[in-house]
Amino acid sequence: MHLELIQPTADFSAEFILFMEEFQAHGESRFDHELTIARRNFDHYLDGLVENAKGVHLPPGYVPQTSFWTVMDGCTIVGTLRIRHELTPHLEIEGGHIGYNIRPTFRRRGFGTAQLALGLEKAKALGLAGVLITCDTDNIGSAKIIVKNGGRFINGVVSPNTYKPISRYWIQLMEDTERKGNDEI
Ligand SMILES: CC(C)(COP(=O)(O)OP(=O)(O)OC[C@H]1O[C@@H](n2cnc3c(N)ncnc32)[C@H](O)[C@@H]1OP(=O)(O)O)[C@@H](O)C(=O)NCCC(=O)NCCS
Repeated sequence: MHLELIQPTADFSAEFILFMEEFQAHGESRFDHELTIARRNFDHYLDGLVENAKGVHLPPGYVPQTSFWTVMDGCTIVGTLRIRHELTPHLEIEGGHIGYNIRPTFRRRGFGTAQLALGLEKAKALGLAGVLITCDTDNIGSAKIIVKNGGRFINGVVSPNTYKPISRYWIQLMEDTERKGNDEI
């Protein structure tokens, strides 16, 4: 089985619509808004992702964010992962640098863990020396994924939005010497 993170592309438009529809079918609303936009005009949806990555036309308070689709064996999208290039006071508490989802029918098979491992390589390639990742404290699956990828627990806070407990983790990606070398390039 081969897993890779790809840049969003129109080549996978039908597959990505199916992916988002599966969340809806399982009663998860996280892709509802994107599904509406993508169904209306997929190219426009993709343009928005490219603009987000470049930091163009961002709403106030938003930071540049690069999106990836996780593709199994060259045809099935099993998850998505987004990397925020920097943190804001809001993301410091909730959201962090990386967000991810696994398709409902592909959960509990190790994809979430493998996807984050690939995502960390992309984050490093984007120049991040380390990443903050947060999850609801009761999200056992997500917490395990983070720890299995080297996450060090920082602390627990309460979400100012949902008032739910949030766990914050740090994953170091570059040693100080490595970062210094890159900074000098
Ligand atoms: C959280 C999520 C990404 C997990 O993806 P996944 O592909 O099921 O994760 P994995 O298969 O790699 O599981 C990692 C570990 O968590 C465990 N796990 C996964 N889901 C679990 C659950 N609902 N309850 C308890 N344990 C769970 C797995 O059994 C595995 O444990 P192990 O390491 O002891 O074997 C997925 O459930 C999801 O997309 N949820 C909705 C979105 C979300 O919560 N995103 C994260 C926001 S921080």
